[in-house]
This record gives sequence, structure tokens and C-alpha cells, in this order.
Amino acid sequence: MDLYEYQARDLFERHGVPVLEGIVATTPADARAAAAKIGGTVVVKAQVKVGGRGKAGGVKLAHTPEEAEAAAAAILGMDIKGHTVRRVMIAAGARIEDEYYFSLLLDRSTRRYLAMCSVEGGVEIEVLAVERPESLAKVDVDPRVGIDAAKAAEIVAAAGFAPGVAGAVADALVRLGEVYTREDATLVEVNPLVRTADGAIIALDGKVTLDDNARFRHPDHESLADIDATDPLERLAGEKGLNYVKLDGEVGIIGNGAGLVMSTLDVVALAGKDLGVKPANFLDIGGGASAQVMADGLEIILGDAQVKSVFVNVFGGITSCVEVARGIVAALEILGDHATKPIVVRLDGNSVVEGREILTAAKHPLVTVVDTMDAAAARAAELAAA
Ligand SMILES: Nc1ncnc2c1ncn2[C@@H]1O[C@H](COP(=O)(O)OP(=O)(O)OP(=O)(O)O)[C@@H](O)[C@H]1O
Ligand SMILES: [Mg+2]
Repeated sequence: MDLYEYQARDLFERHGVPVLEGIVATTPADARAAAAKIGGTVVVKAQVKVGGRGKAGGVKLAHTPEEAEAAAAAILGMDIKGHTVRRVMIAAGARIEDEYYFSLLLDRSTRRYLAMCSVEGGVEIEVLAVERPESLAKVDVDPRVGIDAAKAAEIVAAAGFAPGVAGAVADALVRLGEVYTREDATLVEVNPLVRTADGAIIALDGKVTLDDNARFRHPDHESLADIDATDPLERLAGEKGLNYVKLDGEVGIIGNGAGLVMSTLDVVALAGKDLGVKPANFLDIGGGASAQVMADGLEIILGDAQVKSVFVNVFGGITSCVEVARGIVAALEILGDHATKPIVVRLDGNSVVEGREILTAAKHPLVTVVDTMDAAAARAAELAAA
């Protein structure tokens, strides 16, 4: 789960990372009140889970509460790389002397953490990483130790911080390392980490990704989940315990087993290439595909307005094709009038002949049984393109 900047800021604060005051607002009037409360110059910042907000006009300086209100009016509702801004954070303005960069992430290839740090941070960090990669220090971190004082000193030395600031930056890195480990993050990034005119080291922007696999250890993280940003069908699927991912296409897919579903997406993508249609989703109904699970899966897929046809691709293993076929027939009964789109079914494996017979005998007007996976994918793509 990716966090918004204001959520990252709160986590930082809780772990003693130096941050500035920040107040979230959803209306220009609230932004004005927040700016008045903070006092002095503030920065109005778009809260979207995408980088490059500053360059897109989503970060504005305001010297008075009136200016903050105007800035919030301009930023709220703005579209930044496909993300609509629904909240802004009003942050105290910093007098920036230097901008640094720091990130800590999970390096799966080495099964360790990787710390990256530079004395040249700010909005051009991507350019720096490409054009002068040597200015971005990369230091390997042992996950069993994390960032202790010695590791922080090593990172700071590798990045080439001046002796006057090295100590304070190292302290901040130890705290950021704590956020990473204690909160079970897979990414903690601060850009910029700044030195202000009065010599303080402050995290001015934060990006944090929490490890969803560790969610059971953090009941307090539940409240960070972004309900509005989750696709409504994915949310419904989650509630029904289905393994569903919404994609941008027209052929709904249901299969049993993640591997089979992945290959089904591939064959449908290929079959639909010249017809201009693509798979609409990933949906794995798992091993014991009961009628209810099949009905739940079909209901989710038929709820996607973009879907024009459905491809049910099941390989009977422990669950025989007879049960699967009965499941499909029963699911269509459960759904009744809600089943509105053509369904192509390919069954194979355990008791395939009997399974197909059940479907043929049911004579459901929406169901077509096709013997092979490729032919079924082609049929489903044609129906979606029609
Ligand atoms: N509280 C602040 N006070 C003064 N200047 C700020 C403050 N917050 C941000 N800035 C300035 O605005 C720039 C961009 O802000 P920020 O890093 O938060 O957004 P961004 O980098 O554009 O977004 P992203 O990190 O998502 O790409 C910073 O590099 C900094 O110069
Ligand atoms: Mg930034």
C-alpha cells in the first residue's frame, strides 16, 4: 500500500524524523484556516500518489491565508498524471538552503535493503540518476541490522555530506530506517531532505510503501487504506474473498489457478490484438470452484460496464469438470437477468466429457462451449469485438 505524503509525514513524526507542521484540507476555506493556524509562509501541496507534483503545478507557496485559499482552489480538482487531487496539505514553509535525497528500499535481487542518498536532491533527482549516477550513492543494508549509527555514517560519507551537516543527516537516516523496519515498509523515500537557513535537517516530502503481507502485524495501518482510490469492483471482489484485478479491456476472464489465468490473459491478448480487444480482468476462482464462487466471479465481471464477453477457462483437477459445469449452470440461475453477456466456456481435464454434456444439455442462450483454449479465446475476442 502506497501512502499519501501527509500519511508518510505522520509516520515520520511518530518515529522522530524531523518534519514541519502540516494540516490536510479538502476545501479552499479549510486551507485558508489551516494557513492562518500555521502562520507565516506556507506551502499548499497536492496529495496524490504520484511523483512530479511540483512540476505539474501541484505545489504552491502562499504568503498569506488568502493566497493559500487561492492556491488550494487552483490545486483541488487538478488532474496530475491521471490522479484527481481531492486533498491538499498545508505545510509550514521552510527556508531551504540545500536539498538532499534519501531512499531506502527492498532489493529483491540481493534479498537486502538498498539505501540511496545524494547531496543533490530535489525535483531533478530522476535526471541526476540518469545523467550523473555517480552522484547518487548506493549502499547495501543488512536487513537484520537495518540502519544503525555506523550504517548511517557510511551512507552519509558515501554521499559526500560536508562535516558540518553529516551528523544531523545521519541521525535523520537512523530514524527513517526505524520507520522502514518498525512499520514494515518496502520503500521510504525523502525528496527533498533539506537543510534550512537555521541549520535544521528536515524531511520536506515523504513517500512510503507499506508491505501488505505484513498488514496483520499492524492493525493501525487499516485506517491508512485509501477506500476512495480502490476500484469499486476490486473492493467488492475483496469482500467476497476473490482474487480479482481490474484491467482495461473488454473480455472478462475467469479461470482456476493463477498460472492458468495468466496464460488465459496472454491468449486473449493475442487473439484480440487485431480486433482491438483486450482482457478486462484477472480472476482466479481457485481450486474448489463451487457454484457460489462461480456466481460471485461472474457477478463481479458482469458488473464491469466495459466487459463485452466472458471467457471461463477451467481445467478440472481435483474439482471435476462435472462440478464446474454444474457450478456454471447454477451460477447462471443465481444471476438470472443479471447475466447479460455472452459466455464462452472451455473445460478440460477430469471428467471433461460429462462436464461439457451438462453445459450442452442446459442450452443456456448465453453459453458457448468451445473445446480448446485458443479457439475459445478467439471466440470470446470476436464476441467482444462484435
Ligand atoms: N514545506 C516546504 N517549504 C518550502 N519549500 C517546499 C516545501 N515543500 C516543498 N517545497 C519545495 O517544493 C519542491 C517540490 O516539493 P515536493 O518534493 O514535496 O514535491 P515533488 O517532489 O514535486 O513531488 P514528488 O516528490 O511527488 O515528485 C521541493 O523540492 C521544495 O523545493
Ligand atoms: Mg518530492
